[in-house]
Amino acid sequence: MSDTTIRRIEPGDADWFLAADELVWADDEAGDRQDRLQNTPTRAGFAAEQDGELAGISASWDIELAVPSGMTGSRLVPAEGLTWVGVHPDHRRRGVLSAMMRHHLRWTRDEGRSLAALKASEPGIYGRFGYGLAAQSLKAKFGRGAQFAAPSEVSDLADATRTTFRTASPDDAQRLHALMRRCAVEGACGAVVRHIDDLRRLLTDIPEQRRDRERNRLLWATRDGEDVGYALLRRTHKWDDGLPGGEIDVFMFGSTDTGARLALMRRLVDFDLMGSAINWMPLDDPLLLWSPSPRGVGSGVTDSLWLRIVDLSAAIAERGFAAPCDVRITVQDKLIEENDRVWHWVVDADGTGALEPAAGEADLSLDIVDLGAVWLGGQTLGARHAAGFVRETSEGAVAALDAALRTASQPTKAVDF
Ligand SMILES: CC(C)(COP(=O)(O)OP(=O)(O)OC[C@H]1O[C@@H](n2cnc3c(N)ncnc32)[C@H](O)[C@@H]1OP(=O)(O)O)[C@@H](O)C(=O)NCCC(=O)NCCS
Repeated sequence: MSDTTIRRIEPGDADWFLAADELVWADDEAGDRQDRLQNTPTRAGFAAEQDGELAGISASWDIELAVPSGMTGSRLVPAEGLTWVGVHPDHRRRGVLSAMMRHHLRWTRDEGRSLAALKASEPGIYGRFGYGLAAQSLKAKFGRGAQFAAPSEVSDLADATRTTFRTASPDDAQRLHALMRRCAVEGACGAVVRHIDDLRRLLTDIPEQRRDRERNRLLWATRDGEDVGYALLRRTHKWDDGLPGGEIDVFMFGSTDTGARLALMRRLVDFDLMGSAINWMPLDDPLLLWSPSPRGVGSGVTDSLWLRIVDLSAAIAERGFAAPCDVRITVQDKLIEENDRVWHWVVDADGTGALEPAAGEADLSLDIVDLGAVWLGGQTLGARHAAGFVRETSEGAVAALDAALRTASQPTKAVDF
């Protein structure tokens, strides 16, 4: 295997970084060089060198992730959002990605962060590095005029909610950031909140990068003068046999309560010239529960968020639990040796968890991948036990830990990053 070293990107690497990105993604990005550089992650960019040549790039967004606070509600914890991963086509399958991943996970831990997350281009890549599939989402396409059979209390709340439609601007960043944080804490876990600087850049219009679509638009939901929801979207015109059938692509969506969620969606299926609104969501999102069934709405489930626990003790201290438990577990972690051992995991009656090093035989054994998969409530240890990934030596240990990890609902769809 060739020798690969990882170093921080330097200002002189900018053109190489952009050129490598185009080559890897088969994409000639339009737009001014300065605009494109502005959209690169500022927290940390890394270059991989192999045999004296620049061979790979990767970077990290500064994100907050909503983890369970117990059975309901969430708390925001800082996390690293891996992005811009690319290996020069001449260097692929020679261990460059593996070297970058080892570096990223160690760096994340050294930065004092317990969690690393990513959105994968292909699903087969990241499990080997300890990432578990933490959240999945359905591509839901609601036709114009779709009806939502929400209970009257929710419907009344939606009736009391006002929606306003505006062109998005970087000046919205502060308001949107504050609202996203509230929605993340008050809603289901799994929401990702981008750093305010990244949000500001995201809301900056770069005409060359619109690709035949309109500018970003923002739909705000307010009630009693307070922000209660948002949708960031773009519309595309389509004409079928002379009839308007445009599509609304919703790529950020959040609400502090179900009434706001309903109000936003009612508005999204009532736009002139638009035939449908596409919004990604977990199978138990209230919007799907208010529909007769996902049939006819959903067109495929995909992996949404991959989660890697890099510091298990810290992650347990940061998360809330739904039930007390007391188990000994063996954790296998090939890349972070501090995680790789027998642990005594206790959750007290208040749902506060703690981990102590232990020895001897454990009640169950699993891989760090299993914990990433169940952390946000997207999978259960029971299902992973049935699939043969988790091994139980003391009867009831899997059920006890599952009860502690339980969440009221599936993790919400995380914004792309
Ligand atoms: C995906 C990519 C980063 C892999 O880089 P690489 O340097 O060739 O990967 P490595 O040589 O370190 O391979 C590590 C392991 O991952 C496997 N692997 C690599 N790419 C894979 C893929 N697309 N699907 C499944 N497995 C993959 C390798 O076979 C190897 O397996 P092994 O450990 O069993 O030997 C590179 O091909 C690339 O840049 N692709 C296009 C951009 C992209 O998809 N980036 C990911 C963004 S999320």
